[in-house]
Amino acid sequence: MIAFKLNGKDVSSTSEGDTPLLWVIRDELGFKGTKFGCGIGMCGACTVHIDGAAVRTCSFPLQAAMNKNITTIEGLNNNHPLQKTWIDEQVPQCGYCQSGQIMQAATLLAKNPSPSEQEIVDHMSGNLCRCMAYARIKSAISSAADVMSADVQYFDPTSSTQQS
Ligand code: FES
Ligand code: FES
Repeated sequence: MIAFKLNGKDVSSTSEGDTPLLWVIRDELGFKGTKFGCGIGMCGACTVHIDGAAVRTCSFPLQAAMNKNITTIEGLNNNHPLQKTWIDEQVPQCGYCQSGQIMQAATLLAKNPSPSEQEIVDHMSGNLCRCMAYARIKSAISSAADVMSADVQYFDPTSSTQQS
């Protein structure tokens, strides 16, 4: 049995250790916000946070999740500034890639609250969007950075990417 923390709760799985974590999160534990895209670590649709780092769960074996602290898009509780700017700026088109985009972006803002345009592009370059929403994604990340720098009280107790 492999135990870990998911969105703040203790969970476990009896699947084989080489099962991709994505299927455990989605099919065993029922958190469907994390998506399957390519299955080979190339698109970012399956991105979650593992101990605060953005990780692609389609190519991350369950056994490596033992005792880790994992956050999915559901763990942000619609409470992250990125989620608010995503809605304000109507970023998604089909929406399929968007959980992964937000989880990837959240790790940037956690370590760099005022990223330059180039830093945003570089950090997000591995997350693909077939609907080509890249300009809106970039803009919403910039807006969230502005919100977070303006709000010194910002604190998200559920996010593994909170600022200190
Ligand atoms: S589904 Fe994991 S990176 Fe594409
Ligand atoms: S919004 Fe459709 S794939 Fe990104």
